[in-house]
Amino acid sequence: MTDADLTRPTVESEAELAFEGALRPTSLGEFVGQAKVRGQLELLLKAAAMQGRSPDHILLAGPPGLGKTTLAMIVAHESGRPLRMSSGPAIQHAGDLAAVLSALVPGEVLFIDEIHRMARSAEEMLYLAMEDYRIDIMVGKGAGATSIPLELSPFTLVGATTRSGMLPNPLRDRFGFTAHLEFYDEAELAEVLRRAASLLGIAVDGEALAEIAGRCRGTPRIANRLLRRVRDYALVHGRDADLATVRAALELYDVDDLGLDRLDREVVKTILTRFDGGPVGLGTLAVSVGEEADTIESVVEPFLVRVGLLVRTPRGRVATATAWRHFGLARGSGALFGDEL
Ligand SMILES: Nc1ncnc2c1ncn2[C@@H]1O[C@H](COP(=O)(O)OP(=O)(O)OP(=O)(O)O)[C@@H](O)[C@H]1O
Ligand SMILES: [Mg+2]
Repeated sequence: MTDADLTRPTVESEAELAFEGALRPTSLGEFVGQAKVRGQLELLLKAAAMQGRSPDHILLAGPPGLGKTTLAMIVAHESGRPLRMSSGPAIQHAGDLAAVLSALVPGEVLFIDEIHRMARSAEEMLYLAMEDYRIDIMVGKGAGATSIPLELSPFTLVGATTRSGMLPNPLRDRFGFTAHLEFYDEAELAEVLRRAASLLGIAVDGEALAEIAGRCRGTPRIANRLLRRVRDYALVHGRDADLATVRAALELYDVDDLGLDRLDREVVKTILTRFDGGPVGLGTLAVSVGEEADTIESVVEPFLVRVGLLVRTPRGRVATATAWRHFGLARGSGALFGDEL
């Protein structure tokens, strides 16, 4: 197993899903960090409850693993409404969406994960549904086609996206509230870990938790995953889950002191050594590391920018002085074009 398995959102195994499920907070009170978003959601839910109506539509935006799905579940739970889950990739035709919408019970919360990947035709249907709780269903084709209006039950749409920039404006504008989830700071992550350790019955000391918190890319999902590996390491080696064990386990899994994983490192190193620190365009960078531009932009870059290794400029991505230092390199010293020539 490589570090990439540890820090990337991979296809989740059953064990992984069960593990995430067990650790998912079910109320806003249990949800650690994101104080701003929590306060905003709390107000929105309370106001709706006082007026006896469905809460406004909510868009949750941010990098993977920061709690979007968790918050969608919390919205349903806190407002005492049933939750129906769907996702953008599953909605490839307007008909797919019509089927989901027409089956909603009054007041239901509809969660659409990766909403930016929904089909265009479905997006247009969704505008109307969000605004007027109504859709037009097209029957037949060509000149004989007619549209039949269908009234829907009031519902609350919760959309999640790692790419809010990819949502068309008319769709974005129809959400009553957009929550931008930020990376968690170390104190918050230590709290996430403390909670997870106690739920899982793992004895870990504060120093050890702080060490994991500093090396999990600001992401609760990764924090929990690393905690599991530390527990395995402690178990197999018959050791306490203390600082030394954490360091040994994270070294084994190639998680460095900034929490960078293989792909993070490869992206930064490529900019440093092949493009002498940049600027380099996203497309060129993606081809150089053999990854999709989309993954680089929505998964890798946000964290590299946050830790100050990378900046985005109009001319492309540029590595910072911190990046040169972190990798122990000096400008001009890299194998500039060396490996191709
Ligand atoms: N604020 C939090 N407090 C405690 N645990 C959290 C928090 N946020 C997330 N987690 C944990 O991290 C895991 C991943 O969160 P979640 O699935 O909600 O992320 P996501 O933003 O939906 O990610 P993706 O974009 O990959 O779907 C959850 O199982 C949960 O245990
Ligand atoms: Mg999710």
